[in-house]
Amino acid sequence: MKAAYLVRYGTASQAFEIRETEIPTPSPSQILIQVEGFGLNFADVMARLGLYKGAPPNPAILGYDVVGRVAKCGTDVVDFEQGDRVIALTRFGGYAEYALAEGFVSQRVPEDLPPGEAVALSTQYCTAYFLSHLMANLQQKDRVLIHAAAGGVGTALVQMAKAKNCIIFGTCGSAEKIAYLEQAGVQHPINYRKEDFVEVVRKVSSGHGLDVVFDPIGGKSVKQGFKLLGAGGRILSYGLSSMNQTSNIFGKLKVLGQFGFYHPVQFLSGSRGMIGVNMLKVADDNPRKIAYAMQKVIEMTSQGILKPFVGGEFSINQLVEAHEYLESRKSMGKIVVKW
Ligand SMILES: NC(=O)c1ccc[n+]([C@@H]2O[C@H](COP(=O)([O-])OP(=O)(O)OC[C@H]3O[C@@H](n4cnc5c(N)ncnc54)[C@H](OP(=O)(O)O)[C@@H]3O)[C@@H](O)[C@H]2O)c1
Repeated sequence: MKAAYLVRYGTASQAFEIRETEIPTPSPSQILIQVEGFGLNFADVMARLGLYKGAPPNPAILGYDVVGRVAKCGTDVVDFEQGDRVIALTRFGGYAEYALAEGFVSQRVPEDLPPGEAVALSTQYCTAYFLSHLMANLQQKDRVLIHAAAGGVGTALVQMAKAKNCIIFGTCGSAEKIAYLEQAGVQHPINYRKEDFVEVVRKVSSGHGLDVVFDPIGGKSVKQGFKLLGAGGRILSYGLSSMNQTSNIFGKLKVLGQFGFYHPVQFLSGSRGMIGVNMLKVADDNPRKIAYAMQKVIEMTSQGILKPFVGGEFSINQLVEAHEYLESRKSMGKIVVKW
């Protein structure tokens, strides 16, 4: 089979090589999937830049999510049959013609669901569901701030918050994305290149604190978001996008310091909390929750509550362009690469 290997950290044009390799064999709990398409996630860009600690060493096959057909089932797998169309969390190995996934993080999807929409439901929608429903316990009419709101996870969070009639503030970095967020129903889209999100939230809310902040940026943004919370509010820190602005250790330490330092009494006296989410850790410790999130997002999509937006569809020969597009910060929704 063919697979796209990450062979060099750095720019997308130098990073990948398509190589021939053996089709992998599923373990008893795994399924082998003939891949129709795989999704890109921002973590892939971080891994390509050598900034993702959990990524395998080079030469590595990246890829967290795929859509395709079951080609073979491990001996203990009873829920799938050869030929089933599925989405799956692959935890690397997704940029290939065949990929392995644990049966419990795979789900059947309808034949007519386009590949980009299907694959969006894996990492990005599952992350958004885990954040908003299982950790933040988002309530009707909550006042919510979503950073990187036009991206993959951001789009999913916006749709989930809309389904709960939340009042949504969403940040992004361009006029095009502002228009996208308006169309998605974000009442207060904020172009952070032109406006200070703290000022906008304070002005619009006239003193009312936020109920939930979703933050994949990290550093200073978390510190600022925490200060915007009202009683009962919670901030979810689930990414470190701002880390990719710096290549040296001092810059990274600076970003870590900018998160701020917290004492539990601050949480107690202000009645607000901070929650960290790392889906790989959840998958290790509590895979049932990932499986549940996957089932729920598929169900909500079939009910018309969720509708993934595919912002870029590329062929495998355009993997470099697909990576460059995600890295450029211009992309909206999900990016899929098809074989
Ligand atoms: N913790 C977890 O388990 C988990 C799981 C999935 C994803 N994530 C995190 O969630 C975030 C979103 O992931 P995604 O795959 O859906 O990507 P994405 O949102 O589609 O793309 C990243 C977007 O982040 C925004 N951004 C803001 N500041 C940035 C910065 N300093 N550098 C780069 N981008 C910046 C950019 O849009 P604007 O500039 O227009 O805002 C960019 O388009 C990432 O941080 C990712 O690591 C975490």
